[in-house]
Parts: sequence; structure tokens; C-alpha cells
Amino acid sequence: MKPVKVSDDIYWVGAIDWNIRDFHGYATYEGTTYNAFLILDEKITLIDTVKKQFADEMMKNIGELIDPKKIDYVISNHTEMDHSGALPLVMHVIGEDKPVYCSKMGLKNLSGHFGDRFNLQAVDKDFELNTGRKTFVFMETRMVHWPDSMFTYAKEDNILFSSDGFGQHYAGWERFDDQTGEAIMPHALKYYANILLPYSPRITKLVKQVAEAGLKPKIICPDHGIMWRENPAKIVEAYARWAEQKPTKKAVVVYDTMWESTRKMAEAIADGLISEDVETKVMRLRTQHRSDVMTEIMEAGAVFVGSPTLNNGLFPTVADLLAYMKGLRPRNKLAAGFGSYGWTGESIKLITAELEAMKLELIDPGLSAHWVPDDDGLKKCFELGRKSGQALAGIES
Ligand code: FEO
Repeated sequence: MKPVKVSDDIYWVGAIDWNIRDFHGYATYEGTTYNAFLILDEKITLIDTVKKQFADEMMKNIGELIDPKKIDYVISNHTEMDHSGALPLVMHVIGEDKPVYCSKMGLKNLSGHFGDRFNLQAVDKDFELNTGRKTFVFMETRMVHWPDSMFTYAKEDNILFSSDGFGQHYAGWERFDDQTGEAIMPHALKYYANILLPYSPRITKLVKQVAEAGLKPKIICPDHGIMWRENPAKIVEAYARWAEQKPTKKAVVVYDTMWESTRKMAEAIADGLISEDVETKVMRLRTQHRSDVMTEIMEAGAVFVGSPTLNNGLFPTVADLLAYMKGLRPRNKLAAGFGSYGWTGESIKLITAELEAMKLELIDPGLSAHWVPDDDGLKKCFELGRKSGQALAGIES
């Protein structure tokens, strides 16, 4: 890949990771990109770097525009190593005394990763970095997605460098939204559901903060995926909506099964939901990845989790999902657990306790079936689905 012009004297010099399929537990079926940006002003500035394994690719891109030794400043919006992994190489090439601008927490976290050998300079909202013809200001964006995260804004160009915010795990030939069209939105949604969902209250504040600061970015450049230049407001509006976690008339029935009994229960619950015209998704965990399940759960108004009892506990895939889901803090959903059992039946109680701990609204204390659900047992499952569908009536799809 070659450098790509973003605006006057501003270039994308990142790397495309076509092959990554697991990003700390998130299935990235279409790879990702690590975006870095080079500002060719009187003081040459690099915003963010790439994962260590792609450092040479980034340096080659920079080398097509200038001698990398000429970089004067580095801005590090985020310490996570997909963006800072190439920092040691960059500093080795440009000289370790050159300033690296970062947030207050960035200073701590970069030191934690790389020791004290770099000239780290903490910036705050009142600091302006002048590079000649351009001025950069900074906004702390704690927990979007780490405590060190910050945004950088190019004032004259009205470009927001948003680090993980507004990103997508997508590797393609396209660098901009006008090249992907609508097809990029499911990637942005999955990214939000699996990375940013727990920080939704902060994102609501952040969207307001950006508006109150009078920032009207013409281009938004995240550190993953495409850049938003045709319609940057679209992704900001989508974030404002997603952060609200408003339920929709949609349900997810997610389960695993040993001898098909819990599957029969799942499908009967789904039939009840469908009888009330609820958009229903049935997902078996040995054929669906946890990150795809979370993407479906994010906008659902109801979620049902089913597990047989195995060795007095949960089926392993269900335990995995519940641990993952709890960390992502979904809100505003009806929920219930279900499952079949042979002799002790702990799984239903365990699921119910986890759903309660997630602050979801239990619509049923948990439905169980002894061995194989009979007609009466399946009717109870159908009724749970129907009752839940009725409770979702009036909510927009
Ligand atoms: Fe793309 Fe939080 O790193």
C-alpha cells in the first residue's frame, strides 16, 4: 500500500493487516488496518504508529514522502500496542529526544510499556501544538478505549484524529467512506458493540463535548478502518444513537446444547417471539462467535441465554459468552435463562444470577426442562417467547 492523501499536506501512512482474524477475542473476519498520519508542515509530525509487525510497512510509506529522520514530533493518541508498537523503531530513527505528545495518562502508560527513554510531553485541552501552517489541539477521551486515549484536532483543516473512536476492523482497498458506502456500517456497529459498548455513558458525554467545543470535523480519521470524509456526521450520529442503548423490537436467543434438548427449548422460545412479530435471531454458540452474538445483542430488546448443566455448571461456550457479555455491559434489555438438565440443574440458576448481575430485567426466573422437554415444557418456552414479544410491543424495530 502507498501513502494516501487525506488533505493538504496530510497523508495516511498506515498499514493493512489482511490476515488478522482474532483481535483480543473479537473475530475480525475481514482483517483490520492500523492508521498512522503524517503531517508535512514546517515541523513534520507523525500521528500514531502501527502494530510492531507492520513497522517496516509504515516506515516505507513515510519514506515515499520524506526521509523518516526528518520527523520532528510524534503525537500518540493511544498507548495500546496496535498503535504504539512501532514507536520504539520510529524513535530510534528520528532520535529519542524528539517530543512525543500524549495525554497525562498516556505519559504513564507509554512509560509503563517502553520505560522512561522517550521525551514524553503530556498535553491538555489548553495546549496548542503549532507545526508552522497548522495548529493541533487535544481532547482527553478517557476509556475510548483506554484511560490514555485522546483525540487530536487539526484546527485549520478541521480534521479529527479520533484514535479508536469511530473505527472499524476492516481491511480493504478502500480508505474512505465514499468508497465503501453503507457496507462499512455493520463493521462500525460490530466494533462499537465489542470494544466501546461499556463506555457508552462516556461516549454520550463525548459527543456533546465535541459539539460544545464547536468542532465540526470535515474529516474524521480513526486509527482503524476507513476515514469518514463524505459524511462524518453519519458516524457521530450513529455513536450518539448506539450509546443510548435504546432497545428495539428484536430478540436474541443464544444457547448451546448437548443432546438437543436446550436447542428445542431455544427454538420454542423463538417461535413464541416470532408469533408476536419480533425480529428474532437464534444463535448456537458452537457455530457462532461470541463477538457476532454481542453485535446482535447490542440493539436487541430481549436476550435469552440457554445452557444444559454440565458437571454441575455451565456449558463452557455459555460460560465464555456470559463472561464476555458482562464485561461489555449491555443495558436496557429483558432477559431470561433456560436449559435442560439431568440431575442437578445448576446452569439455569447460574445464568439467571449472571443476567441479574448485568442489571438486565428478568422476565422469568429461569425455565428448566428435565432431560428432554415434553409438549408441556415446550409450550412453556413458547409462552415465555410470546410474553416477551408482547412486552416488546410498541418498541420500534
Ligand atoms: Fe486500536 Fe485500543 O487500540
